[in-house]
Amino acid sequence: MLVEKTLEACGIERADVPGREIPVLVSLIRSVNPSRYAELGTRFGASLCVAHRAAPECVLISIDLQSAREWRALPNHPPVPPLPPHVFYRADTRHMILPPELRHSCNVVFVDADHTFDGVANDTRLAFEMIAPGGIAIWHDAAPTDAPEIDVNRYLVTAFPFEAVLVAGTSIAFCRVPSVPEGGG
Ligand SMILES: C[S@@+](CC[C@H](N)C(=O)[O-])C[C@H]1O[C@@H](n2cnc3c(N)ncnc32)[C@H](O)[C@@H]1O
Repeated sequence: MLVEKTLEACGIERADVPGREIPVLVSLIRSVNPSRYAELGTRFGASLCVAHRAAPECVLISIDLQSAREWRALPNHPPVPPLPPHVFYRADTRHMILPPELRHSCNVVFVDADHTFDGVANDTRLAFEMIAPGGIAIWHDAAPTDAPEIDVNRYLVTAFPFEAVLVAGTSIAFCRVPSVPEGGG
């Protein structure tokens, strides 16, 4: 299920960063005071830089088919800030077997890799295996769109088993994981 709310309606303060999606991402990341942030899909590392800005002490983890350094070695890449220190896992998320150190150990997982329906479903499953109790999953490109290759919204509306929030005026959606597993003490 996907509902649309403002960050303020979720009790999260907007970060003091100009722009639109970036302050929302910064606020969501800061809202869990993370020690470990992971992202599925890094490309040139723009969102990695945002995470570093949001939480400078946080360990950053990137999972992608190729590293941000390799992406940045390609000609004509867009201007991006210097890459922050991070741990890179070269993997195809469709076949990735999660290393034990990534299991339920990340406070934030940013889902921004394969945007097909099956890809988002798979990456969301992986994200929830990575998130620690009390953490947060964040999806990019989650607003309704006519782009046929972007199925994030359709997945969240029709198949996601929990409630995700689409932040009004952005393409960012998120879902908090309870601090205590449901049914637990
Ligand atoms: C939209 S870009 C990520 C942009 C980045 N998060 C940012 O905001 O700067 C998508 C990235 O996902 C990666 N990707 C796509 N499918 C993937 C898969 N099955 N496994 C791992 N990475 C994948 C691509 O290589 C690409 O770097």
